[in-house]
Amino acid sequence: MIIAIDGPAAAGKGTLARRLAKHLNFAYLDSGSLYRAVALNLIISGQDENNEDGVIAASKNIEPSLLEDPRLRDEATGHLASKVASNKIVRENLLHFQQNFAANPPNGEAGAIVDGRDIGTVVCPEADLKLFVTATADERAKRRQLELEQKGIAANHENILSDIQARDKMDSERATSPLVQAEDAILLDTTNLNAEKAFQAALGLIKPANLV
Ligand code: DC
Repeated sequence: MIIAIDGPAAAGKGTLARRLAKHLNFAYLDSGSLYRAVALNLIISGQDENNEDGVIAASKNIEPSLLEDPRLRDEATGHLASKVASNKIVRENLLHFQQNFAANPPNGEAGAIVDGRDIGTVVCPEADLKLFVTATADERAKRRQLELEQKGIAANHENILSDIQARDKMDSERATSPLVQAEDAILLDTTNLNAEKAFQAALGLIKPANLV
């Protein structure tokens, strides 16, 4: 049983996917963390997106400890992740891990929830249910600002908004596996929904699909 959740940056996919996975006893994979790990690999070795060989090498060598590194969640890591994610070979290198996780969820879980940008379109086109979770850029920026402030990090709304808009542009305009709603995905606009309401709305879509 595979549930694919795609959508733009800071739309609340992760919070929703984690909650659904817990509720359904499914395994959860945050595919963005893999692209962030490639970016963090580069940052740690003092490289950037301009050295293609370095970018490709960084995507072949993802130590599990990188996925636990607090720097993975930094805005700079997310921004660089979006840049390296446009590389076709990087995407190929990460594809098998994601597909294998979805097909064989760890710990014998009955299903997997994978979130990202191209899960319903490229990674798991055969998913049993596809959700496309979105919200306006302004609302997403507000949520990201609140999240940063709760961590004690000073945040400026305009800066966050322009970063989110830049990421939307890079993620949706790249040639390989761009962010796009799959034809058979159900749109969930969370602009006016809090996390609880988004969760209930998603459950309301999952139950009729006979996934639980
Ligand atoms: O979901 P996130 O913000 O953690 O993802 C970081 C970047 O990784 C995102 O801007 C684009 C890239 N990404 C991708 O290209 N494909 C995915 N399936 C997941 C993330």
